Amino acid sequence: MAIFLDTGKIEDVEKFLRMGVIRGVTTNPTILLKAGVIGGRDALRKRSIEIADLIKPLPLSVEVTTNDFEHMIVQAREYAQWAGNINVKITVHGPDGEIENFEAVHLLETKYDIRVNMTAMMSAQQCLLGALAGATYVSLFGGRVNNMGYNCVDEIRKARSVIDDQDLKAKIIIGSTREVLNVIEWLEAGAHIVTVVPEILKGMIVHPYSKETARMFLNDARKAEEMLKS
Ligand code: E4P
Repeated sequence: MAIFLDTGKIEDVEKFLRMGVIRGVTTNPTILLKAGVIGGRDALRKRSIEIADLIKPLPLSVEVTTNDFEHMIVQAREYAQWAGNINVKITVHGPDGEIENFEAVHLLETKYDIRVNMTAMMSAQQCLLGALAGATYVSLFGGRVNNMGYNCVDEIRKARSVIDDQDLKAKIIIGSTREVLNVIEWLEAGAHIVTVVPEILKGMIVHPYSKETARMFLNDARKAEEMLKS
């Protein structure tokens, strides 16, 4: 079981890395845009190398920015050269249901020895097929599944069960966290990894009653010191 950080911000990566609580970082084009990574391939390369270097040997996921078959292969091979701990994110299919993405994943994993994170998955059946194609990670978007009116916990359980039954190497990453309670719930359901945005990770740590308790200890320690002085 592991927690990855879903961010493109250097300061977030540094902060949670120093705390020792994360085991990898995931990004996507939307996250990177929000993190101010603008300027195309050069900016993507620079930020990816920066994060990969910070967290090595932990893994970093970087997503391709095309759904053209040949270009996906070229980009994936380029990303893999940037750093040894980069794995390449490819969506389960294209915006119009282009299923050749499976062929790209299989080729990258088997012919080019590149680790792939097959992403934007919404069901256990997609996870199973991604795992069969040879993906190192299959990323199920829990919050989006729940938003469609299904309980992603059922999909996680089913995906883990079939992946284990067939002894496939794929690790299930659940992303798209929406609430603090998602993290433990999804890990307990069978996710190998939950990737978490910094706000949720902070929310897992900070509890109002822990604040109050810490405040009580500090106040009483101060009182005890003052009593000694008087
Ligand atoms: C996971 O790998 C994705 O980067 C991410 O969690 C997607 O989350 P969203 O549904 O909040 O966009």
